[in-house]
Amino acid sequence: MPIPAITLSRRVHATALRAFVHSGVIALLALGVPKAAQAQAQASGCSDLSAQAPTPRIDYYTQIQPIWEIRCSNCHVNFGSSPSADLSLNEEDSWIQLVEIPSVQVPARQRVQPGQAVASYLFEKINCDLPEAGERMPRGRMPIPLAEQALIRDWIQQGAREFTPPLLFGDGFEPAAGVGRPAR
Ligand code: HEC
Repeated sequence: MPIPAITLSRRVHATALRAFVHSGVIALLALGVPKAAQAQAQASGCSDLSAQAPTPRIDYYTQIQPIWEIRCSNCHVNFGSSPSADLSLNEEDSWIQLVEIPSVQVPARQRVQPGQAVASYLFEKINCDLPEAGERMPRGRMPIPLAEQALIRDWIQQGAREFTPPLLFGDGFEPAAGVGRPAR
C-alpha cells in the first residue's frame, strides 16, 4: 500500500526535527567539554598513565612520603633556608602543606585537591613537561617513573588522606572477598 503523501512529509519533518535537536544537544555538549577540561588544557606533554593499574588503599607515610624524600627533598626541604616555591616536603610538613593548600605559582589551583588528580597542581608538576607555570618536577631532572606518578595519582583520587581508615569504612578499593587483608 502506498504511504499517503501527508504521512510521508510528517515523517520527514519528524526526522529533520530529531536531527536538529540532536545536533543542538551535541553542540551543547561540545561547549561544555572545554570547561570541564580547562584545568588540564593549560598543561602539555603529560605522561600517559592509562596503562598503570591503580594501586588500592595507598598509605601516605609509607608509599608517598618516600617519593618526596628520594626525589624532591634536597630542594623542597626545610632546614633553616626557605624551601623552593615555599613548599617543604619534609615528613613533618608535607601533607599539611600540600592538601587543600593553594599553589604559590597558580593560586587559583590547589596543590592537592582531594579526589581530583588532574585538577591538582602538584600532579601536573610531576606529570607534565609544560605545567601551567614553571618547570616539570623534579626540576632539571628526568621525570619520575610512571609507576610513581600513578601512585601519586591514585593517592589523590582516593581522597589524599593522611591516614588510611580501616577496611570497615569502604572506599571502593577493597579487594574481592576472600582475597585477604592487604598489608598495612
Ligand atoms: C632541583 C631543585 C628541585 C627539585 C629536585 C624539585 N623541585 Fe619542585 N620546585 C623547585 C623550584 C625552583 C620551583 C619553582 C619554579 C618552578 O616551578 O620551576 C618548584 C616548584 C614546585 C611546585 C609548585 C609549588 C606551588 O605551590 O606552586 C611543586 C608542587 C613542586 N615543585 C613539587 C616538586 C616535587 C613533588 C618534586 C619531586 C618529585 C620536586 N618538586 C623536586 C625546585 C625543585
